[in-house]
Amino acid sequence: MKKILLRNLFFLLMFFLLTGSIASADDSVCIECHGGLSGQLGEIPTAEWHTSVHATHRVSCHDCHGGDPTDYVEAMSPDRGFIGVPDYAEVPAFCGRCHVGVEEDYRASLHGQMLEFGGPNCVSCHESHAVQVATIDLINEVSCSRCHSYDKPALIKQEISDTEAMLSRLETSIASLYRVGFDTGRLQDELFSTRNNFRRLFHSVDIEKIRSETAAFDADLAETKATIDGLEETLGQRKLAGGALVLLLILGGCIALLIRRTYEDHE
Ligand code: HEC
Ligand code: HEC
Ligand code: HEC
Ligand code: HEC
Ligand code: HEC
Repeated sequence: MKKILLRNLFFLLMFFLLTGSIASADDSVCIECHGGLSGQLGEIPTAEWHTSVHATHRVSCHDCHGGDPTDYVEAMSPDRGFIGVPDYAEVPAFCGRCHVGVEEDYRASLHGQMLEFGGPNCVSCHESHAVQVATIDLINEVSCSRCHSYDKPALIKQEISDTEAMLSRLETSIASLYRVGFDTGRLQDELFSTRNNFRRLFHSVDIEKIRSETAAFDADLAETKATIDGLEETLGQRKLAGGALVLLLILGGCIALLIRRTYEDHE
């Protein structure tokens, strides 16, 4: 009897935990109502948002547009903090509430300075609802040549690509060293900080700056690589020593066997 009661309690708890966590990702009157509206006003932004990096991190409609996600009637009342849709030139500040460093870099760039004279805003490159994890694939001819030639973007991409590739190679190396038991904490921190600082470069769209600073990042990465190479060599030597030990053991076993055979033959 007690067992059944406990089991029911357990399932009840699981039910609340599960539905609770599902609900907190999507549960807002904004999504409930807009999900049912057609086109650009509802279905499209809602479906796009569901695929986005923001949905993954639980940044929802009201986190960007404001308003009250719990009150069906007052949801879009300015009294409840609703700010609606930003104008083109308001977008950087709209996104910059959370992406403070990026907004700063962008404002200082030629793109930021040209915002009201044909420069792109955040949405031009990242979209508004289908925002994905940012990679250098965002730099491509289709996107960048909407406003000017692709020559300079192509140069920037080339400049960043090699360092990006080195970053991912080192990340893979560190991960495999970690798997075989090396303490990689400091290396990981080093690389994480280099990566974050490096990824700040792009929004400047300043080729000279990117070129000169990329050289400094490459030097940092070369140092990290040297440390990793050292560790990998140690690992190689360990493997070699391990192999030699196994060989010695096998050899020892054979000799012991031989001695025993000779001994047995003598008897
Ligand atoms: C009861 C249904 C309903 C709810 C709840 C609701 N909306 Fe809306 N929303 C609409 C309708 C209908 C429109 C278009 C007419 C209008 O602008 O009032 C709209 C318009 C909008 C717009 C575009 C406004 C513009 O100026 O073009 C945004 C952004 C928006 N809603 C966001 C939200 C957010 C965020 C929430 C939750 C905090 C929310 N809505 C809750 C029905 C709803
Ligand atoms: C990352 C911030 C962000 C999130 C999250 C977000 N929006 Fe938006 N939304 C924007 C921006 C920016 C615009 C202005 C679009 C532009 O400039 O092209 C916009 C525009 C809109 C519009 C006006 C129509 C249009 O497409 O221009 C509606 C309606 C809307 N959003 C509804 C929603 C709903 C519903 C959700 C949740 C499912 C949501 N938004 C989530 C940033 C966001
Ligand atoms: C001209 C196109 C363009 C514009 C305009 C732009 N971005 Fe980006 N953004 C990119 C590219 C390309 C990357 C990837 C850079 C890389 O991987 O080195 C990126 C990276 C990012 C990242 C990830 C950076 C990191 O540190 O991990 C964020 C967040 C971001 N952008 C937000 C914004 C916001 C907010 C704005 C507006 C203030 C904006 N972007 C304007 C193209 C753009
Ligand atoms: C309410 C806060 C908030 C607002 C407003 C917001 N974001 Fe984000 N954004 C986040 C969070 C949280 C993440 C996930 C964690 C991270 O990567 O920083 C994220 C991630 C991103 C990424 C991926 C970063 C990466 O590492 O590759 C991009 C790109 C991005 N946002 C662009 C935008 C753009 C463009 C806007 C405006 C339309 C915007 N964000 C508005 C909170 C916000
Ligand atoms: C909405 C229009 C628009 C889009 C989209 C756009 N740019 Fe620009 N870009 C401008 C304007 C305007 C300028 C300044 C005038 C000029 O050089 O043409 C500029 C200038 C530049 C410059 C020159 C900086 C210098 O020092 O001469 C680079 C580099 C650049 N953009 C890179 C990019 C990249 C990379 C992309 C794609 C990820 C991109 N742009 C997308 C409008 C845009």
